[in-house]
Amino acid sequence: MKGFADIVVGLQWGDEGKAKIVDFLSKRYDIVVRFQGGANAGHTVYKKGEKFVFHLIPSSILNENSIAVIGNGVVFDPEVFFDEINKLKNYTKDIEERIFISDKASIVLPVHKKMDSLRENKNPIGTTKRGIGPAYETKIVRVGLKLSDLFSNKLLEKFEILMDFFGFDRFSDEFKFNLEFINNYKNKLIKFVKNTEYFLNESLNKGKKILFEGAQGVSLDIDFGTYPYVTSSNTISSYSLVGSGVPFHYIKDVFGIFKIYTTRVGEGPFPVEMEKEVEEMIQKKGFEYGSTTGRLRKCGWLDLSQIKYNSMICGITKLILTKIDIFFGLEKFLVCTSYKNKFTGEIIEFFPVNSLESYEPQYLEFKGFNSIEDISFSNFINFLEKYLNIPIYIISKGQEEKDTLIVKP
Ligand code: IMO
Ligand code: MG
Repeated sequence: MKGFADIVVGLQWGDEGKAKIVDFLSKRYDIVVRFQGGANAGHTVYKKGEKFVFHLIPSSILNENSIAVIGNGVVFDPEVFFDEINKLKNYTKDIEERIFISDKASIVLPVHKKMDSLRENKNPIGTTKRGIGPAYETKIVRVGLKLSDLFSNKLLEKFEILMDFFGFDRFSDEFKFNLEFINNYKNKLIKFVKNTEYFLNESLNKGKKILFEGAQGVSLDIDFGTYPYVTSSNTISSYSLVGSGVPFHYIKDVFGIFKIYTTRVGEGPFPVEMEKEVEEMIQKKGFEYGSTTGRLRKCGWLDLSQIKYNSMICGITKLILTKIDIFFGLEKFLVCTSYKNKFTGEIIEFFPVNSLESYEPQYLEFKGFNSIEDISFSNFINFLEKYLNIPIYIISKGQEEKDTLIVKP
């Protein structure tokens, strides 16, 4: 029998609690695959009282039977990768035997991070300064280095073309520094590099199950997000195929994760703002600090037009609602269900992703709840399922798995 693949994506602006869910779900799969983004991701898993933050390695790696793949769609930073391996070594078995990186993944070099920072000073997007934009840029203009290039006799030639693209000649310090970086990691990487599209397809043919782990969120997608305040990759579910080489007929479920409120880091519109007092309470109680950059996240009310639009683009089959306990104790809360045009007064249900500045969110008010047993909580869940027309599959609270997951059949 052939295997299948499911996908997890975030339905907001990232930080929806994807890692905890991927760690939990991954016990039902053989392989977990990252297919886009890079070390801009900050995926936090709490286990046995410890906190683990993953930037490049799939969040499933603490499960000792799980195989992790970093796909061709990822921009790969060797420095972050080995840092992560070294931190994890004492916590999980055979980690180095359970991770494979696509030979077609693009390499992030110090020069990419430098350019990211320089551009941020000029034209701020609020990036994580992990070199993501410049790395995808050199991939698309065809001057980037792929992992396979590290082991090619054309490496130096290709490296010169890349450095020239950023205006550094072979006598510059930047050139030397980046070449040293490559030489430092090259041999250490050999054992991880593989033709992962063959590996994944063969595994599926043998009946294995694959879970794709999305990074960032759909509203940060380069095509369907709040451009230009987005990341430089496609974060939507369909990119899992492009970023891995797995064909579409294997896909079964697409899980869409969202928090009971909205957060955003970096620049860009954020219409669903809440009163300062409530925002500060949520920031504190929900630990809403960036796990990659340490920045405080803006917090606002849940935006259901956003969730509906993003679910449509991703073909979500099952919803996962997270961090509900952060709302325990609130007397009432708001949910945005439509938008009003500030100039014409027109009300639309559709998420105005590219013109959010021209719209005002329209809210429904809900009665608060103190536990999941409260009738006002089940009323709210029923409302969500009806409004979105997709079943809620998991409701998550707390940081650790043990006090958290209620799976609805
Ligand atoms: P996870 O996977 C939240 C945001 C940055 C910035 C924009 C562009 O943890 O959900 P980039 O460095 O990607 O060029 O920055 O995207 N951003 C994220 N926000 N969660 C993330 O990842 C993010 N990765 C990037 O803050 O606004
Ligand atoms: Mg995060």
